Amino acid sequence: MVTKSITATTIGINAYKVEVEVDVANSLPGISIVGLPDSSVNEARERVHSAIKNSGFSFPTGKVIVNLAPADIKKEGTNFDLPIAVGILKEQGIEIPDDLDIAFIGELSLDGSLRAVNGVLPLVTGLKEKGITTVFVPYENAKEAALVQGVNIYGASNLREIVSHFEESPLQKTVVDIDSYLEEHSKIEYLYDFKDVKGQQKAKRALEIAAAGGHNLLMFGSPGSGKTMMAKCMASILPPLELKEALELTKIYSICGLLSQNEPLMTKRPFRAVHHTASPNGIIGGGTNPKPGEITLAHRGVLFLDEMIEFPRQVLEVLRQPLEDGEVVISRSKSSVKYPSKFMLLGAMNPCPCGFLGDKVKQCTCTDVQVQRYKSRLSGPLLDRIDLVINVPRLTTEELSNNSEGEPSAKIRERVVMARKIQSERYKNEGILTNSELNTNQIKKYCKLDEQSAQIMKLASQKYQLSGRRYNRVLKIARTIADLAGGENISSEHLTQALQYRADI
Ligand SMILES: Nc1ncnc2c1ncn2[C@@H]1O[C@H](COP(=O)(O)OP(=O)(O)O)[C@@H](O)[C@H]1O
Ligand SMILES: [Mg+2]
Ligand SMILES: [Zn+2]
Repeated sequence: MVTKSITATTIGINAYKVEVEVDVANSLPGISIVGLPDSSVNEARERVHSAIKNSGFSFPTGKVIVNLAPADIKKEGTNFDLPIAVGILKEQGIEIPDDLDIAFIGELSLDGSLRAVNGVLPLVTGLKEKGITTVFVPYENAKEAALVQGVNIYGASNLREIVSHFEESPLQKTVVDIDSYLEEHSKIEYLYDFKDVKGQQKAKRALEIAAAGGHNLLMFGSPGSGKTMMAKCMASILPPLELKEALELTKIYSICGLLSQNEPLMTKRPFRAVHHTASPNGIIGGGTNPKPGEITLAHRGVLFLDEMIEFPRQVLEVLRQPLEDGEVVISRSKSSVKYPSKFMLLGAMNPCPCGFLGDKVKQCTCTDVQVQRYKSRLSGPLLDRIDLVINVPRLTTEELSNNSEGEPSAKIRERVVMARKIQSERYKNEGILTNSELNTNQIKKYCKLDEQSAQIMKLASQKYQLSGRRYNRVLKIARTIADLAGGENISSEHLTQALQYRADI
């Protein structure tokens, strides 16, 4: 007799249903697994064997053959232990229904207890799409699995509990009300507040615009001008995640094993500060066992590159494609995998090698050639993808000793949240959420200029020799400025303001 049990495997952040077929042949004892298993799946043989015996069940005396279908997709991870064990137990005559709308996910310990696995949210999401109605998972993954609404989730601590569920003692269903969960957990606490940042009105305003429209921003200025401090304040003005975004982000963190059992849903926008010494694979993603990198962990949030010019050129150039497409393609030996990476790039850097070019007090000691060589490390095409470029001058001692508080982050955030609402309402049929995502056709439709503004734009594009891309970026920024002001149309004032954020570096 051949038994069938259902489970799933992930590719990128998507999951595919897998059927686990088990048969016992009349030959020497052992287990063999076929159907493109990687080494982590192959190790299931030893774990499953011990787990079944140590749970007090008997193990088949013949050869156990496990087939993972379809055979053409690569299976990786340890979540196959449980469905394989279930298949073997069914072979042994244990009463577990053969229903094909029930799925099993979980790693087994040698003693038969179930261990949490990565990627449960995408796995259960994928199974639901294939019509699965009930999923058994390790107890520690139950809350995460139950974020998928409309599927019966049972969390079990060990193999015995799963068998008992179908006999005399059913497990308790895990239920999570996702809307109230999100509501409860989205209150943000943060360490840095804009109220402590003195002066720097222009930079603060640029950061507000960036947060409101999801725009990329680069600050340059002398050491000590507050660039790092202000970047860290950014987390305090980011709008809450929408449910769709929260689930998408949770899938990523689930695959990376970065979710905690008690907080199964990502409720805050990520703020990932990355150091220039981090490995390219760590930043972009990849490696021998490909994993998402920082640019994917920053999805729907902020990727902060402090001292941006110090990053290896190879890393900066690779950023261009995800900045444009909102996803990154990681190639592997035989195939490639895509991860989402719609992040807001926040960069900070000194204006020259000594740091004091343009400073009011300290003299820059660099030669023209040194400055040119320094700046050329950021390529034009990369800069073209940064919507806001601002100069952040150092404050004078008097300005720094001024004791008045600035506008608190909470107030700025209110404006950002309002502007985001306007955008998500306006773009509800476009499949985008923010102005930064507008494509050329959408820019034509949503960033219309009146006659006066069109004239300003014409003059500006001649004067500053704006590339097509740059031209569009100015329009998008103007759209965000109009949204922050609650204006339906872009006015000449909005446009003039938008043109201020294109400092040449
Ligand atoms: N505008 C400002 N308001 C308040 N403190 C500031 C400001 N600018 C700089 N500082 C102080 O100077 C320190 C260094 O600033 P930092 O953000 O590290 O500068 P940068 O990254 O531009 O070199 C900060 O930790 C802060 O104490
Ligand atoms: Mg700094
Ligand atoms: Zn210098």
